[in-house]
Amino acid sequence: MRLKFIFLFLAGFTVFAQQTQKPLVESTNGMVVSTHPAASEIGLQILQKGGNAIDAAVAVNFALAVSHPAAGNIGGGGFLVYRTAKGKAYTLDYREKAPLKASRDMYLDSAGNVIPGKSLIGIFSAGVPGTVNGMVEMHRKFGRLSWSEVVQPAVDLAANGLELTEKEARGLNRNRADFIKENPGKSYLISSDGQEFAKGQILKQPDLAQTLARIAQSKNKGFYAGPTADMIVEEMRKQNGLITHKDLRKYRAVWRKPLVSNYKQYRIIGMPPPSSGGVALAQLMKMMEPFPLSRWGVTSDSTLQVMIEAERRVYADRASWLGDPDFVKVPVAELMDSSYVTTRLQSMDFAKATPSADIKAGVFAGYESPETTHYSIVDKEGNAVSITTTLNNSYGSKVFVGGAGFLLNDEMDDFSSKPGVPNVFGLVGSKANEIQPEKRMLSSMTPTIIESNGKLKMVVGTPGGSTIITSVFQVVLNTLEMGMNMQQAVEYPRFHHQWLPDATRFEANRLSNDQLNRLGSKGYVFTPSGGIGLVEGILILPNGRLQGGADSRGDDTVKAY
Ligand code: GLY
Repeated sequence: MRLKFIFLFLAGFTVFAQQTQKPLVESTNGMVVSTHPAASEIGLQILQKGGNAIDAAVAVNFALAVSHPAAGNIGGGGFLVYRTAKGKAYTLDYREKAPLKASRDMYLDSAGNVIPGKSLIGIFSAGVPGTVNGMVEMHRKFGRLSWSEVVQPAVDLAANGLELTEKEARGLNRNRADFIKENPGKSYLISSDGQEFAKGQILKQPDLAQTLARIAQSKNKGFYAGPTADMIVEEMRKQNGLITHKDLRKYRAVWRKPLVSNYKQYRIIGMPPPSSGGVALAQLMKMMEPFPLSRWGVTSDSTLQVMIEAERRVYADRASWLGDPDFVKVPVAELMDSSYVTTRLQSMDFAKATPSADIKAGVFAGYESPETTHYSIVDKEGNAVSITTTLNNSYGSKVFVGGAGFLLNDEMDDFSSKPGVPNVFGLVGSKANEIQPEKRMLSSMTPTIIESNGKLKMVVGTPGGSTIITSVFQVVLNTLEMGMNMQQAVEYPRFHHQWLPDATRFEANRLSNDQLNRLGSKGYVFTPSGGIGLVEGILILPNGRLQGGADSRGDDTVKAY
């Protein structure tokens, strides 16, 4: 990423100006920001024909299941944070669940060691999908247009085909070998002539179109019963998977109490457990409150140090305490208590890095590429939707449901297969996040809505596994403290520390060589990283106009009117 920055020093304040790769989009009536131009366009059309933000969200979700199969899905799960124009907040949890036949040690061998890859790829890694039930439930409660009206555009997209972007074509080609290996006898998302996919090629998905048509016609019964459910269970039978008709019949999305916290004059509405995102973001923001970040500026060593030290401490809490609140007692109030949170940074020393081992002992772990996807929508009345949804890894378990044409998730890897053993994101867990039948696996997804003085201020979120929380944290600070507009804020290079491993990953241009040397001499370890996150944000300006931020790391697109 090549960025140009200008810093003007005025009366003690650093005014930030950054030339963005994607243009800054502003509008008055409504805005959709998602990771695919076709999905953003469908969301915009729903808004323009009188649909509200929830109608658009449902339409975008199903459009992403067609246009962005790496993460858009009907075979996965997600979280909704919703704020009505009147200021009432709701959160819906449609996270996947462990199948009834799941058990604590299902990914361990007879010696008690984690079997590499078993929770990550193949049918055994799939949790019971929640997305369709989540869409039906949010539409039942808040939708304005008819259900079939909001699902039909995705049916058409799958049946008539869509033009592949360069990134989508590359993603499909990269996963071709896994698709073939995990799907004997099927040809989904594999180029029929044996050639690689190319940008501009039209991709049609007729089986997926029929599955979506069944959902358009019968809502939950189009997925959790009837032919689609039969196909899922038949796929399980063929490949020794665990999901049964009973699992599908029993799946229910849950409305949870929104997690509300304060940062200065801002009110942050976040997702409660089983996501760790809301708690972690609340802790991070509260830890920043005493520090003059806007005066220090976004590039200063002090800013970096307090942010890294906060991230380190917050991920240590995440590993110990967070899990599915329907199964374990999660000390949410204690974790978010201001005096607890502020004391956490008292052990920080600007002269040297705090070793993660001093916060809590742990192990080193590797990383995997980001996945998941987020979209942000505001309609003309001011209703706001922040949704993050996922299959876990890119293209989930890589297993397609035969006849139904959609991918199953590999969300079971978000459980802790064994205490202290890292998952694909290098995250360690404990008893709170061990596997139990019907339990939801802990997530890092952080769909977020922020208010300022009672008014809608920002809608934001991102994919990125364990980096989701820190990406949202940094983009929020970029706008609230560093004077960036929404597009600048999402494009600005990021870094990430998650307690273990004890190292900060950073994108190109985030740290100067001098800074790396200075902070390195204080004990900070840095590792270069590829792109971190794909943030989609909408900032509401004081005059009420909407300002979009679509991440230039992906195909992310703002559509507005
Ligand atoms: N699968 C990524 C997350 O939920 O955190």
